[in-house]
Amino acid sequence: MKTGHGFDGLRVVTFESRLSEEMGSLVARFGGQVRCAPSLREVPNPDSPDARAFAEGLLAGRFDLIVFLTGVGARAIMAVAEKKHPRQDLIEAMGRTTVVVRGPKPVAVLREWGIKPHIVAPEPNTWHEVLAALDAAGSLSGKRIAVQEYGESNPEFLDALRQRGAVVTPVAVYAWALPEDLGPLTSAIRDIIDGEVEIVTFTSAQQIRHVLEVASQMGVADELRAALRKTLIGSIGPTCSAALKGAGLGFDFEPDRPKMGNLVRGLARSGRALLHRKRASATAGIDTARATRVELVWPSSLCGDSNDPLHESAFLRACRREKTGYTPIWIMRQAGRYMREYRELRSKVSFLEMCKRPELAAEVTLMAVERLGVDAAIIFADILLVAEPMGVGLSFNEGEGPRITRPVRSGEDIDKLQAVDPAALSYVFEAVRMTRRALRPDVPLIGFCGAPFTVASYMIEGGSSRHFQNTKSMMYRDPGAWHALMERLVLVLTDYLNGQIDAGAQAIQIFDSWVGCLCEQDYREFVLPHTDRLIHAVKPGAPIIYFGTDTTVLLRAMRDTGVDVIGIDWRVNLAKTWEWLDHSVALQGNLDPVVLFATPSEIQRRARAIIDQAAGRPGHIFNLGHGVLPNTPVDHVLALVDEVHEYSSRVQ
Ligand code: CP3
Repeated sequence: MKTGHGFDGLRVVTFESRLSEEMGSLVARFGGQVRCAPSLREVPNPDSPDARAFAEGLLAGRFDLIVFLTGVGARAIMAVAEKKHPRQDLIEAMGRTTVVVRGPKPVAVLREWGIKPHIVAPEPNTWHEVLAALDAAGSLSGKRIAVQEYGESNPEFLDALRQRGAVVTPVAVYAWALPEDLGPLTSAIRDIIDGEVEIVTFTSAQQIRHVLEVASQMGVADELRAALRKTLIGSIGPTCSAALKGAGLGFDFEPDRPKMGNLVRGLARSGRALLHRKRASATAGIDTARATRVELVWPSSLCGDSNDPLHESAFLRACRREKTGYTPIWIMRQAGRYMREYRELRSKVSFLEMCKRPELAAEVTLMAVERLGVDAAIIFADILLVAEPMGVGLSFNEGEGPRITRPVRSGEDIDKLQAVDPAALSYVFEAVRMTRRALRPDVPLIGFCGAPFTVASYMIEGGSSRHFQNTKSMMYRDPGAWHALMERLVLVLTDYLNGQIDAGAQAIQIFDSWVGCLCEQDYREFVLPHTDRLIHAVKPGAPIIYFGTDTTVLLRAMRDTGVDVIGIDWRVNLAKTWEWLDHSVALQGNLDPVVLFATPSEIQRRARAIIDQAAGRPGHIFNLGHGVLPNTPVDHVLALVDEVHEYSSRVQ
């Protein structure tokens, strides 16, 4: 799914006030028609009684901690306090307390005063991070804390401090009022209601309240709410998103880092597609303010003239080695811990539960495609799910990876394996069905399984392994048992793959991640016949990708299974590998996942080098050489996806 490059004339309303101009020029720079509708005004209180009381308390040593939430607020407190007390005395008194700040702006103000804060909350710099940083620093019980407030009080934060036994003194110094000139705001509200705005952006929680308040004053609150169900809503960050949800409006996009630039760039990149989906969903009577991704639908008009948008997608065309206008890309493990939205969901449920609840597995699958703009989805599941109904026990422990609790070590163990009724894995099929329904109609869905060898290696070793000692020992010492296990697995995996195809998967990937530990001869004797049988038992029509790592010497043998696509890792040169395979298959790969930790320009350089190796030959699917690593910056993945799309469409 190629993402757009900019708003391309979409009409965007911003409610930002203090940085209204900056926000406006950002939107304009990305090709949007911007309407700035400032929705609030900062009203400093030059005689703030709170600030005066704070100064007295500070000088009298009545605070253990001071929390500064904003730069403007820190300055305002000083302005009031300074009227009565020498600045130097105040600064020295602050130096005797623990100074805590929410983010870079108050840090800068304190630096001017010569104060280095003891605690700086990390991004995204909400009060949640402030609280977590305070918790990490020790008990708050009995601590006397002064909290500089925003325009409005933040009762949740104050309550959380009080619950920890702190004595809290809020210090209010400025307030938010409606702008003096309501003209731009009221006319923006009218335009939204009249359907003349495609995107609105909220850059603080207060803006939401003011927009709704002004709409109420205008007598059009319900009309505005109704219109926003068809208008794309961008939110700057978690606090704003929570307020949007709380107000019953919901939101459609939130960047990873709460910065105006990230919000605008993200909306420019995928806003048009998200808007299409939101409008089609609203027309279908779906409550878009509350719907999950699984519940939303796409318009059929999105796919141009093609009457079979899936079949003609760049990804499936490349699998068939047909010419494409650009190189399609997806990322192995594209839904995972490197993604903020994934971690949010995952913090509430275990990995296995996420796999077993189809609505969650589907949600995560869709999330990755939506966020990255990749050309294929891969169903969220795991290669080891099939092992569980075989009766060997499966668990995923935090930080340890998968565990098979009753490893298979002998012919007897193999005899005890249970036959698997495909219904035992119906949760995966249901996730495929749900995903297919909600996925863009021109984005193919990949089903997958582990290859018999790689699944067997986990079942025999009990988990991840370095030398595959037990696995190879069984092969060498008891080939009969080995082949029996592989046969059992082929039966289970055949049903599993065909079940996914029946449920709506357009392509299949077989992960043989660890097969590279074998020499070619052993591969041909102990693995190839089984993988070959699996591949031939898969229903025709869905292309099969066969992937492994460290497979340099095995690639020809892997090709001999008759698969459509071979997945390669970064150790091999793509051009040479293709030649070695007589260009008889499509190739998928092969950027080193660690390259994503380099700078965007280095990522782009290396992505181009791979595209150059493919040299415009039909049948290249861009991917990493192995799964994306947990701490990979999402921005870098986006840069890769965009570069592959842009560069390849120029040279293809
Ligand atoms: O690509 C996708 O987005 C689809 C989801 C997917 C997962 N696992 C989710 C997952 C896929 C395709 C897999 C395949 C898989 N699982 C493989 C083959 C691919 C490869 O990387 O070689 C293997 C070997 C496994 C086994 C497995 N599952 C391991 C080794 C781990 C631990 C990995 C780790 O980084 O901790 C898992 C767990 C797992 N599978 C996670 C995810 C998102 C992490 C779970 C979590 O949230 O804690």
